[in-house]
Amino acid sequence: MSKKPASRNPSADQLPVVVKAAGIGFTPTATLRANARKNIDKGAITESYKADKGTVIKLLNDALATEYVCVLRYMRHYFMASGMLADSVKAEFLEHAQQEQEHAHKIAERIVQLGGEPDLNPDTLTRRSHAEYQEGRDLRDMVKEDLIAERIAIDSYREMINYIGDRDTTTKRILESILAQEEEHADEFADLLNGWIGK
Ligand SMILES: [Fe+2]
Ligand SMILES: [Fe+2]
Repeated sequence: MSKKPASRNPSADQLPVVVKAAGIGFTPTATLRANARKNIDKGAITESYKADKGTVIKLLNDALATEYVCVLRYMRHYFMASGMLADSVKAEFLEHAQQEQEHAHKIAERIVQLGGEPDLNPDTLTRRSHAEYQEGRDLRDMVKEDLIAERIAIDSYREMINYIGDRDTTTKRILESILAQEEEHADEFADLLNGWIGK
């Protein structure tokens, strides 16, 4: 029987040395264990968290205000939509309102994970929101205002993602998934406006 060739994989205790030589760096298990025992009141936020937590929480709270203003604007548009195209556009308004609510939910959860508090104070909501609460004169104007609000959200999410970079990959991933859906929303309304017939 042939002898099993020796494994080329580095053993566990060689790993930090091997990886450090490649310029990446892994923390030895004993240090990982010791670090995890420190500051356990910080929950999911460990010493390796690299972003400025206060700034990230502030950015997320601004995004949270934006999402709630968008929920309210879409609900207003949903109830007020009238005219030839109203039924199909109403369905879009309602779906978007529900999706903006889901975005708000994800953002608020992340704020709490980071040790912050979601700011849902209605007194300051529109001031803190990036997007505006525009009622719209008629159905077409509502769609136009919603497209503008989506474009504002797209730019602000993109800026946040660029700022956070790889310093907080969980927040970045959440924001990227929201951004993708805001782009879908904007695209749907842009199509609708392009094909608009009548007032
Ligand atoms: Fe949203
Ligand atoms: Fe949206």
